[in-house]
Amino acid sequence: MLDKALEYAHQNQEQFLSQLKEFLAIPTISTLDERKPDMQRGAEWVAAQLLSLQMDNVQIMPTGGHPVVFAEWLGAGKSAPTVMIYGHYDVQPVDPIELWTSDPFDATVSGERSEYLYARGASDMKGQVMASLKAVEAIRKAGDLPVNLKWLIEGEEEIGSAHLEQFVKDHKEMLACDLCLNPDAGMIAPDKPTVTTGLRGLAYFELRVYGPSKDLHSGLFGGTIHNPAQALIELIAGMHDKNGKVTLPGFYDKVRKLSKQERADFARLPTSNKELIAMTGVPALWGEPQFIPAERVGARPTLEVNGLLSGFTGQGSKTVLPAWAMAKISCRLVPDQDPDEVVKQMKKYLKEHARKTIKWELVNLHNAGAALVDSDSLGVQALSKALQSVWGRKPYFKREGGSIGAVMHLQKHLGAESVLTGFGLPDDNVHSPNERLHLPTWYKGIDAVIHFFYNF
Ligand code: BES
Ligand code: MN
Repeated sequence: MLDKALEYAHQNQEQFLSQLKEFLAIPTISTLDERKPDMQRGAEWVAAQLLSLQMDNVQIMPTGGHPVVFAEWLGAGKSAPTVMIYGHYDVQPVDPIELWTSDPFDATVSGERSEYLYARGASDMKGQVMASLKAVEAIRKAGDLPVNLKWLIEGEEEIGSAHLEQFVKDHKEMLACDLCLNPDAGMIAPDKPTVTTGLRGLAYFELRVYGPSKDLHSGLFGGTIHNPAQALIELIAGMHDKNGKVTLPGFYDKVRKLSKQERADFARLPTSNKELIAMTGVPALWGEPQFIPAERVGARPTLEVNGLLSGFTGQGSKTVLPAWAMAKISCRLVPDQDPDEVVKQMKKYLKEHARKTIKWELVNLHNAGAALVDSDSLGVQALSKALQSVWGRKPYFKREGGSIGAVMHLQKHLGAESVLTGFGLPDDNVHSPNERLHLPTWYKGIDAVIHFFYNF
């Protein structure tokens, strides 16, 4: 059966790729209101795939936001385990669009050996959703699935899975499962299969600073009014000390210390500072000097400015004192930090540091909890064995810096642990211009998911 499934997958690679291109053509940008109809189309496209796999109970289910796609196949019987496959059909915005070398929604194969597929969502994570769909298709062609299966494909992952928690709470029975396979993480390199053992949490803010009631002549008023752009920058500048530590009051109180063993595991990961510099194009690295970069990403909390807006930014010059300034700021969190407490810490910092010369307003856009995976679980074992069969070497175990809201919700409300993996690479340009998917790795990923199910 395994061989038959793998053979089917190998023979149909071209067809899988052309279907992935179709999926990628739907601009499912969850954060933009004007993409709402496309979100619906994206959900319908996924539902159609699930129907063609002859899944039962295929539904596009409303939430407070974008719909969730659900499906199941319970033919393995009550005594067999139930695996949920988690995915998301939404993607990040494409701006700055002028930096893309091809249309983000017209997936384009290129590279020296035609090894990359360029499109928004190719790696994060329509490619991964397709890998799971096609693996299950291959298994179904070869015979019955060895386990019961449920699908939970959401449309709000990239905006913090805001309505997923309520959805999970409302559908506990429907979603009940023994574990969740979540391929929304990634791998270290094409020859380095990876099991992700942790994710960071997130608290996302919009901070607005208001000064005069309208933009003013900077000559007439400069020197008498606290410029909101400057006031915002002063606040932001104070959020780190000179060693790269975050200064929000109490921010590190609940940060779990790394054990000797954990630090040794991090030190063994095959990532070099040089590679990191080459991949990102920065002149030098930055951050807490007492931790190596893999630790700073996987196990240390951070505060980042995602964007800034204020005043005149058009062509030429305009002497103006802006009425307001705004920043999007987010904190990546680690166990055992609580996102709600970080919101309080941010407010406290602002109360303590904002001057009387301006008014400020803080909006908490969304939160997600950090997660750690039990590396000895049956699911992780089935996955590592699968990765080893396909890549011919033991996988790396790595705590990652990204966040996936669903992991916490499924753990908290269903008691379901996630098994985290993925076939995206660090240089896939996720959330950046020219996002891409490394196709040879993707095809291996399909094989790995097939192995995973038979291992179980
Ligand atoms: N696939 C990523 C998360 C990820 C990235 C996991 C790298 C492991 C390694 C996911 O789609 C994502 O980008 N999530 C957002 C979530 C946020 C909006 C709550 C993120 O991390 O920024
Ligand atoms: Mn993402």
